[in-house]
Parts: sequence; C-alpha cells; structure tokens
Amino acid sequence: MTGTIVERVAAAVDADRLSRRHEALAAIGGLQPSGLSREAYTEADFEARRLVVSWAEARGYLAFIDPIGNMFFRRADDDRPEPPLVIGSHIDSQPAGGPYDGQFGVLAAWETVEALEDAGAEMRVPLEVAIWANEEGSRFQPTTMGSAVFAGRLPLEEALGSRDTQGRTVGQELSRLRPALSGVADRPLGFPIAAFLEAHIEQGPILERHGTPIGVVTSIQGLRWFTVEVTGSTGHAGTTPVADRRDAFVAATEMAAALRELMDDPGDTVRFTIGRFEVRPNAPNTIPGSVLFTIDFRHPDQEVLRRLGDQVEPICRARAGGCEVVVRETLDAPPTALDPAISRAISQAATALGIAQEEITSGATHDAKYLAMVCPTGMVFVPCRNGISHSVLEHVEPEQMTLGTRVLAGATARLLTDAQR
Ligand code: GLV
Ligand code: MN
Ligand code: MN
Repeated sequence: MTGTIVERVAAAVDADRLSRRHEALAAIGGLQPSGLSREAYTEADFEARRLVVSWAEARGYLAFIDPIGNMFFRRADDDRPEPPLVIGSHIDSQPAGGPYDGQFGVLAAWETVEALEDAGAEMRVPLEVAIWANEEGSRFQPTTMGSAVFAGRLPLEEALGSRDTQGRTVGQELSRLRPALSGVADRPLGFPIAAFLEAHIEQGPILERHGTPIGVVTSIQGLRWFTVEVTGSTGHAGTTPVADRRDAFVAATEMAAALRELMDDPGDTVRFTIGRFEVRPNAPNTIPGSVLFTIDFRHPDQEVLRRLGDQVEPICRARAGGCEVVVRETLDAPPTALDPAISRAISQAATALGIAQEEITSGATHDAKYLAMVCPTGMVFVPCRNGISHSVLEHVEPEQMTLGTRVLAGATARLLTDAQR
C-alpha cells in the first residue's frame, strides 16, 4: 500500500463490513418498521455488547468491564503500561430511539481498529475501544452515567442506586446481566487515558443544511436535569368541591406553564424540555394525588444555566398551591470545550482525505463531555436526515457513516503515530 498512514488507514475502512455490522447490531432491540429500543442495563443492551465482544475476539482483542458497566477492548498481546488512546461511544438507546445515536460511534471505533490492523499501523501507545454505559439516562438517571462515574464526577454507589420506574436499581440489573458476559474480565474503575475520540451523528440539522459531511466538534453545551415530585391528595372527581382539592396535576401544570415562561427565548438558544410527566393514580375519575415530572434544560453559556436553572425550584414552590413539592437536581454539567489539538488532528485528517468539514457546537450531550475532564478529547460528527434523533425516524446514509469512519480512522492513525501523542 502507498500513501500516508492517514490515507492508508482511511482506505482500509471497509464500507460493506461497516454496513453489515450496523444491520446486525441494529437488529438487537430493533423496532418495526424502524427504530431501536435498547435501554441501558437490559437484555438487549447486553446482547449488543456480546456481539461487539465477538468482533473483538475475532481480532484477538480482550474485553473488560468496570464496576458501572463501561466496557473496554484491547489487543491481547499489548500490555504496554502507557495510557491508551481510547475511541468509542455507547450502544444503549432511548426507549423509542434510532440505531445511529451512539451505535455509529461504536461501529466507527471498531472499523477503525480493523483498518489500523489491516493497514499495519504502528501504534505508539496502546489503543482501546470503549463502550460507555448508560449514556442515554432514559431508564436510569442521569444521562452519561458510565462516563461520569469513570471521570469521578458521580459517585459509583449513587449511580448503582439509581432506580427505574419499576423500582429496580442499576446495581441489581448489572448483577443480573453480568453472567451474559462470561469471558469478559473485571477491571477497576478509572485509569489514565492519553486521549479520547468519539464519532457520533450530529442529531441536529446544521451539517445537513450546509451540505457538510463532517463536523469537527469544538464544544458541548451545558445541561441541568431536575426531577419534580408534587404531592397532593386523591379524591373523588365528581364529589370533591374545588376548594377542598389538592390536585397534583393542577399544581404541576401551573409549574410547567411558569417554567416555560421563564425559559422562553425568542433567539431559540435556551432548550427546555419536560420529557416525563407521570400522573398517579392515573385514573379518569380520581383527583391526581401525585405527579412526577422531569426537566432537561440546556444552554451553551454557564451564566445562563446558572441564572435560569437556579429559578426552577423557587418557581415550583411558588406554584405548588396546597401541594407539597420536592425538586431534585439530578445533573449539573457545565458547557465543555473540547481539546484544540485533537480537533486539529480530526480536521487535518479530513483535509488530507479531501472531505469537507466545519466546526460545530454540540447541542446534544455526550460521554466526551466527561472524558474531556480527564484527558484531551475530540469528536467527529456526521449529518443525520432532517436533523432528527431520539426518534424512530433517525436515519444516516451509509456513505455518511463511511466518511465519518474514515475521518475517525485517519485522525486516530495520526494521533497514534504522531511524535506528540
Ligand atoms: C444524549 O442522549 C442527550 O440527551 O443529549
Ligand atoms: Mn448519543
Ligand atoms: Mn441520545
């Protein structure tokens, strides 16, 4: 093979293998006619992990799992002590999500391994692939749980104690599902990393609108998550006088309306979402005795996150009527700048491969946010159809996945063979 190492590794990316593996992985938890339901710490999540383990074994790579369920893969014969360069993403999904959010990054990472091996790239430091556990946070809050625990930003015990709506904890589900990964070795939590690279779909409309195949991510906007629990009294819907009611639904909708007013932003930079709203006992002729709702609030500016986010609890209290309200903040993650040197390596790889690119801020959050707190970190974005994600309509063209994978592989080759890293 001729050409630079970046060109040779990018050329060794096999578009057919990437597509085949995408189909095989997307079938685990796949929905009809489209979409993916593979929430964290479910059988489907672990079946998907097993499939990745089988690819690793075929390449002579060993698999490891840490106490929160993050997985790592490394060549069996590479026991060098230097911190590894790590590439990867997540394979859990939203309850009704798409098969590209996260999955693409894991597939791109595996294809990068295959391409580096096939191109005979010499790796100056060890290379590892990571699957970060529970990135989505839809079943067990918060989002990016595995990487937050890895980076020491969320206590392990707290994460293991997080409960789903059925009352099951992360710890219980991990113990139940761990035997499905026999042959995977335990590894303690956390280790030094030389650099982290993650490929992901954009999940927004910018790249597609601009017709740009590659986004070089410069930063990830910040987010705060809250859970609001409103407690009133149940009673008969037909007989209880209005003055005697403590209707948790009425109080919660007052809170929601006031919060929406607070978060109203004609410039459309504030992102405010109430994604879960549970009414109990959820019977047509009973006054709701309790409501639980969640708030997902994002902004690129820390000052705005602080100012508006700090008003959530006072506003809920002021609108509680006769009900009790408990507001818990389950996540407070600041805006994060990614590493300019890693971004440069990504950009240079794209340039060397003749692939157009632009810099972009991520509206979605990613495990890269927490990795950036412990090592130089960069991200590669590819466009998705109509900017849609967290939806069964999520779609990415195979050619876009291939281009994104070539850039990830090229940037990884660059960093692995570079004198600096
Ligand atoms: C990630 O899934 C996010 O919510 O941004
Ligand atoms: Mn994701
Ligand atoms: Mn997601």
